Amino acid sequence: MTVREYQRVDWAGVADLWRRNPSKEFPLLGLDPDAVGGVLRKTEGIGIRFLLGLARLFGRPILLVLVVEVDGRLVGTSLLNFTPEAAYVSGVVVDRSVRRQGHAQAMLRACDDLGRRYHRPVLVLDVLSQNDPAIRLYDRWGYQPLRDQIWLARTFGPDTPLPLPSGETRIRPYLHRDGAQLAELDNALMPPEVRKILPRHREDFGMSGVARNVLQSDVASWVAEVDGRPVGFLRSTVSRLMQAANLSSPLFGAGVPQPVARDLLLTALRWAESRRAPRVLTEVPEHEWRMCPLLDSLGFVERFRSHTLIHRLTA
Ligand SMILES: CC(C)(COP(=O)(O)OP(=O)(O)OC[C@H]1O[C@@H](n2cnc3c(N)ncnc32)[C@H](O)[C@@H]1OP(=O)(O)O)[C@@H](O)C(=O)NCCC(=O)NCCS
Repeated sequence: MTVREYQRVDWAGVADLWRRNPSKEFPLLGLDPDAVGGVLRKTEGIGIRFLLGLARLFGRPILLVLVVEVDGRLVGTSLLNFTPEAAYVSGVVVDRSVRRQGHAQAMLRACDDLGRRYHRPVLVLDVLSQNDPAIRLYDRWGYQPLRDQIWLARTFGPDTPLPLPSGETRIRPYLHRDGAQLAELDNALMPPEVRKILPRHREDFGMSGVARNVLQSDVASWVAEVDGRPVGFLRSTVSRLMQAANLSSPLFGAGVPQPVARDLLLTALRWAESRRAPRVLTEVPEHEWRMCPLLDSLGFVERFRSHTLIHRLTA
């Protein structure tokens, strides 16, 4: 068994592995592993760097993809991307024919080694709360809980029409210069232990043209303004690689009036609906759970909970 970095020839093996071992969230996302394979094949490896964005982290580049090979067959994947503070692990999949043989642990060991090599003292990942095998794996490896998140979905269709925004809130497209203020807003809301490991940076709010092309996606971002200052941010993304549209985790300053938040949400939702997405998904971290009643009132339904776990590396 070898754990090694992804090479371009691996695209078919990865697509096949993901098709045979779909994660629980794939049906909700409407993710099409064949389309993913097509992207990998065409993009000479750039595509996979952005795969993580497909699931939950639009806009954050992946630096490394690890695969497990057994007798020339690709049987496992893990994706690793680096923020300035941490290494983020995702896409951990082992083929069902070779589970309980230590392959996932071998990938976690490789991720730790890379974290050390690139001077990231902590590894972070998200796991669905019903995923007992994975939770046991991470617990055994020394991961500890940081925070919880809720995944919500809203269906579009004639039975669930969206109201119009009131027209009284100033909502405008996101501009590059908003990034710093929005990052400050979000960081102020986070519990200190989360801010230390997953702080927002001004660059997190934009999305590169490369990512858009690779994901074959269409993106729009807005801010709500009160007294000339941005007080809320949302980004909607639709991608040809999955059916569901993605709404960034709602970000609203602590004192934002509910009608302002509602107007921004309706603007982002109407855009996604106009792109013919059958539904939209969003993840809400614990520090934004005060938004849940508003999301409920707009037709969102809780679909999953997930735990964000961290692994602190010792030297
Ligand atoms: C979770 C997953 C990656 C584990 O892969 P694996 O190669 O079988 O894991 P390992 O053999 O390295 O297991 C290491 C330890 O994790 C725990 N573990 C793994 N699978 C488990 C299971 N089904 N039930 C209970 N404990 C389990 C055990 O403690 C195991 O050690 P042991 O076999 O000595 O008891 C694999 O089941 C998988 O691909 N699942 C579907 C995709 C997924 O859910 N990925 C996680 C996304 S966050």
